[in-house]
Amino acid sequence: MKFFIDTANLDQIKEAQDLGVLDGVTTNPSLMAKEGISGTENVKAHYKAICDIVDGDVSAEVIATDYDAMIKEGEELAAIDEKIVVKIPMIKDGVKALKYFSTKGIKTNCTLIFSAGQALMAAKAGATYVSPFIGRLDDISTDGLDLIESIRVIFDNYDFGTEILAASVRHPMHIIQCAQIGADVMTGPLSAMEALLKHPLTDIGLAKFLEDHAKANS
Ligand code: E4P
Repeated sequence: MKFFIDTANLDQIKEAQDLGVLDGVTTNPSLMAKEGISGTENVKAHYKAICDIVDGDVSAEVIATDYDAMIKEGEELAAIDEKIVVKIPMIKDGVKALKYFSTKGIKTNCTLIFSAGQALMAAKAGATYVSPFIGRLDDISTDGLDLIESIRVIFDNYDFGTEILAASVRHPMHIIQCAQIGADVMTGPLSAMEALLKHPLTDIGLAKFLEDHAKANS
């Protein structure tokens, strides 16, 4: 399973890249705003800065919601760097835009997926990734992982090449369960990735090893 970090924060992206397990980055307009990035040229420069840090796909979301404007904006985003994946919302014009970009060989990430039907539409239109938001489903008492499972079955039934990018991941158990189900990618915060490597018995065991070594060598 690929690990993407879901942030526009350059320090966190660098930290995840240095950890050696990072396969890409996802951003969205809220995450860009959180970093105080505004204005077309600043936004493009920030995407370029992210691309210069990571080895892998970097999702950059269009703001436009009508077909022509999405195509223009998506092409401009794709021109920033070959790592850019154009992130398109799951709306009717978005499906048409996914089809356009897939025929042009430009990678896409269909975002704001909350049902298996939406994922199927995006896959039919040739999306590179679909992003089901599992945390936001959990927030409204609906099991987000059930959705990942349904999409996995559908994509496997028909050998769709579209990758399932489990998004809105909030904690380490989400990552483990996505891996068990067979999500192709997960995107989440650095804290959720780092939580995977922690275990109290590891810390206790290491402290004992070091203590015994110190005694034997004193
Ligand atoms: C996905 O690409 C989105 O940026 C993201 O995962 C949304 O996560 P949130 O629900 O924690 O905002």
